[in-house]
Amino acid sequence: MDDVIAARILHVLGVVLWIGGVAMVTTVLLPVLARMQSAAEAMNFFARYRQQFAAQARFTTLLVGLTGFYMVYALDAWQRFTQWQFWWMHTMVLIWLLFSVMLFVMEPRARRRSSTAPAQNNISPEAFAKIQRKHMTLLILSLITIVGAVAGSHGWLVSGN
Ligand code: HEM
Repeated sequence: MDDVIAARILHVLGVVLWIGGVAMVTTVLLPVLARMQSAAEAMNFFARYRQQFAAQARFTTLLVGLTGFYMVYALDAWQRFTQWQFWWMHTMVLIWLLFSVMLFVMEPRARRRSSTAPAQNNISPEAFAKIQRKHMTLLILSLITIVGAVAGSHGWLVSGN
């Protein structure tokens, strides 16, 4: 059982670093950038910040995924994916998949594109607002999942047992 405890510790550490970073970007960085005079300048700053954060988030995403699937295997909890009371297991995997696509497919692609066309002067405030909305949606979904996962894995399920 020690291995599951170790996996759980690493899992939660990964979640704290990863979702904590998303919360910082969403509630602090993006609102500050949105108030900047030039949308192009804000976008350039955001691109550099995102690149730095993505490197760290790739590591924490891998850590969370590996420890998460290890726990499913060690606890033999696969059947939970067929029970709606364990909705938080589904949303954990969903969030992990969404971020994995963003970090391992979309971010490297955006980086390659910006290195061939560095001047992004055509970024509109609407495009920036869209980025903010996307981050807020992901953050809220992640927080709801964390609440469900902590409650559920300590025995507080919707069915009441
Ligand atoms: C591949 C993706 C993931 C898998 C397979 C996975 C799997 C698991 C498993 C099996 C547990 C232990 C459940 C139990 O003890 O009954 C767990 C706990 C937890 N997971 Fe995940 N997880 C994944 C991603 C995530 C993500 C993305 C988040 C955050 C948004 C997250 C947050 C948590 C939290 C907060 C706990 C509760 C820890 C505790 O209080 O003991 N997980 N996860």
